Amino acid sequence: MHAMFKTSLASAAMLIAVAASAAPPPPGRLLASNCFQCHGTNGAGPGFDNLAGKSARSIFEAMKEMQAGKEGEDIMSKHSRGYTDDQLQLLAEWLSLQSPVQQARTAGPSSLPTSR
Ligand code: HEC
Repeated sequence: MHAMFKTSLASAAMLIAVAASAAPPPPGRLLASNCFQCHGTNGAGPGFDNLAGKSARSIFEAMKEMQAGKEGEDIMSKHSRGYTDDQLQLLAEWLSLQSPVQQARTAGPSSLPTSR
């Protein structure tokens, strides 16, 4: 076997070992990570509406309304349609348990404008 190939096989095995030993993130966080791009890491801004620490019920209901096209603009109606009710429940519960502190720390003149 070629030495270089052996080396890369060894590093691949190490990477797999590292990945396997890390605890997987909770499913609610995995599902909600799609939201961080626009609503900030963990939904705590800066960005559009702060989601962290809101009640799970209000997040879930807003998502259902946006799914039905009753509320929200195009961006959110499309994003909300990618989830089943069970997935929305999981991500809403996870977001409700997050601290909204990030918003207070980083919001400032450079925070993104909201649509309202
Ligand atoms: C591409 C950007 C983008 C992504 C990604 C995104 N959002 Fe939004 N979100 C917005 C914008 C813009 C608004 C405000 C306009 C509107 O209501 O449609 C909004 C509004 C909302 C609101 C409404 C708040 C209120 O009380 O009216 C909720 C709830 C929400 N988003 C949840 C989520 C969740 C949960 C995810 C992840 C599944 C997500 N968003 C992903 C851009 C985004």
